[in-house]
Amino acid sequence: MSQLETKPFDQLIHNANIATMAGDSDYGIIENAAIGINDGKISYLGSAQNNFKAQQILDAEGQWLLPGLIDCHTHLIYGGNRANEFEMRLNGADYEEIAKAGGGIVSSVKATRAASEQELFESAAMRLEALIAEGVTSIEIKSGYGLDLETELKMLRVAKKLGGHYPIRVVPTLLGAHALPPEYKDNSDGYIDLVCNDMIPAVAQEKLADCVDVFCENIGFNYAQTEKVFQTAKAHGLKVKLHAEQLSDQNGAALVAQYNGLSADHLEYLSQDSIAQMAKAGTIATLLPGAFYFLRETKLPPIQALRDAGVPIAIATDHNPGTSPCLSILLMMNMACTLFKMTPLEALQATTINAAKALGLANEIGSIEVGKKAELTLWDIEHPNQLSYQFGSNPLTKIIR
Ligand code: NIG
Ligand code: FE
Repeated sequence: MSQLETKPFDQLIHNANIATMAGDSDYGIIENAAIGINDGKISYLGSAQNNFKAQQILDAEGQWLLPGLIDCHTHLIYGGNRANEFEMRLNGADYEEIAKAGGGIVSSVKATRAASEQELFESAAMRLEALIAEGVTSIEIKSGYGLDLETELKMLRVAKKLGGHYPIRVVPTLLGAHALPPEYKDNSDGYIDLVCNDMIPAVAQEKLADCVDVFCENIGFNYAQTEKVFQTAKAHGLKVKLHAEQLSDQNGAALVAQYNGLSADHLEYLSQDSIAQMAKAGTIATLLPGAFYFLRETKLPPIQALRDAGVPIAIATDHNPGTSPCLSILLMMNMACTLFKMTPLEALQATTINAAKALGLANEIGSIEVGKKAELTLWDIEHPNQLSYQFGSNPLTKIIR
């Protein structure tokens, strides 16, 4: 430990039980351990030594130190809310009917276009604070409620600003192809041209996002349109991911895998064939139990087949005003267990290391390992399985970042 004697840690956390989440098949538990941090990175992980020096020392008092949680799929920025549609659905209308009648995503588009950048910032900031309070240290935020160049860029600028104002990593995604805006009614190919010719180049140029998403669905965009967006994204050096197989099987997951996509998300109607393609490409399956629950979906995503194929599973809130107005990543972990029959270990992997993979950031975050970023959470629990077990409560005591 001679090196450690000469260079003190910026921060030392000791007396912690650690779940590293670094392995494939367990929590990676190290009891009564210490972590040294230098320059924002983990530089030591192991037992505490008497000769350790540090500028700042934290006694974890036997609490559990986990990687920061990662919410890898959200639509956090939008104007208004859709409580009225919730009520309509409970009076008999269904999600697709409401969308076709000009409600749904398009009603959030109206409110988002009308809102100023500051208003969007303030409403999203409140939601972001709720997620941070549960230990979320990285979040993906999509555009997609602007559906014109100006408003899509406005949303992505708000995302960037949120990342600058809060102690959280914001990973922005362009979702220009989320729905058809009213001015392109009956001209979805024309709208895809706008996404490809104007939005993607502008976003790449201004570096406002490094990934592009599409809603590939009967009420969204078809396979050929999705492929065109992917081709354009790739030509501009952007990564791709996809809202795939949420309401029907469009072969979207196979398509996004073919373009080496980071993730295919939702996946209730995913086919065995697409699973094989995802496994081959290393595309992560991001499951969204909040939307499944809120839409009262009954078709489960093929969890066992994903496990059998070795496709890593991530879980996210999918926070959005229409299908998942949820601001609790912990509740999503519980629902992953109760609704999807995932195990508590899988649920925690799904919001740490696998969510990091879904963002293409697994070399930096998602597990506690020497060399990774020190984005950590401290919990007053007796075992990490408790995070999935209890719901409606929050045992987080501290974020170290
Ligand atoms: O992830 N599926 C498409 N997009 C969102 C729903 C957005 C909305 O209804 O506003 C989702 O479920
Ligand atoms: Fe979504």
